[in-house]
Amino acid sequence: MKLSVNIDHVATLRQARKGKDPDLLQAAFEVVKAGADGITFHLREDRRHIQDEDVYILKKEIKKPLNFECALNEEIINIVLNIVPEWATIVPERREELTTEGGLDVIGLKDKIMKYLSPLKDKGIKVSLFVEPEKNQIEAAKEIGADAIEIHTGNYANLIDPFKKEEELNKIKESVAFAKKNGLIIHAGHGLNYENTYDIVNIKDIDELSIGHSIISRAVFVGLYTAVKEMINIVKNKKA
Ligand code: PXP
Repeated sequence: MKLSVNIDHVATLRQARKGKDPDLLQAAFEVVKAGADGITFHLREDRRHIQDEDVYILKKEIKKPLNFECALNEEIINIVLNIVPEWATIVPERREELTTEGGLDVIGLKDKIMKYLSPLKDKGIKVSLFVEPEKNQIEAAKEIGADAIEIHTGNYANLIDPFKKEEELNKIKESVAFAKKNGLIIHAGHGLNYENTYDIVNIKDIDELSIGHSIISRAVFVGLYTAVKEMINIVKNKKA
C-alpha cells in the first residue's frame, strides 16, 4: 500500500502570517526524503492554504507523483490541465466547510463530472473521484470512466461507538471489494491518524492512502521526516 502525504496544512501555517515560512517546497522535499510515495495538495477555490504558485513549484521540483485535489470548478480544472499531475482527485467543496465533509455525489453530478473527465484524461491525467463507501456511487464512477475512487474514511475516523465504527469499517471493506471487482484503482483517506489507520491498512486491495492533518500535527512534536516515517511504518505494515 502506498502513502501520498497531503501537505495542505504546511501551507495553512504559512498563510497564518502570509509569509514564506514554513517553506512548502522544503516540506515536500522532506516528505519525499522520508520515503512517501507521493505528494497530495488541494488548491481550494478560496485559496485558504495552497496558492497557485505553489502547485507550479511543486510540479517543477517534485519528481514523485503529485495528486491534485480539485473541485468541479473551471478555473481550478484549467490549472490542473496546465500542471498535468499524475492524479486529479475530484472532491466536493463548500466555501464555509473546515475541510472536505463528504464524498462527491457522482450520480447527481454525472454530466458535470463528465465535462471535465475527458480533457483531463486526454492529457494523460488519471482521475479519481472522492466518494462515500456506497456501491451506487462507485458504480457511477466506473460508468463514467474514472480510473480510481478515493473512499471517504472520515465518517469511520469520527465514529466513537465501537459497533457503529465496525459497521462503517465493514461498509468500507465491501466498497473496496466492489470497486476492485469493477476494475477500479482504490484510494482512501480523510481523518486517518496513527491509531485508526491500522484497520484500513489491513484492507489489502486499497492501493494508496492520502493522509495529511495527523502527519502535519505530529510533525510539530517530532519533525516532519519522523512523522512521515512513522506513518509509512504503519502503512507498509512495518514495526516501528
Ligand atoms: N482525501 C481527500 C479527498 C481530502 O480532501 C483530504 C483533506 O484535504 C484528505 C484525503 C486528507 O485528510 P486528512 O487531512 O484528514 O488526513
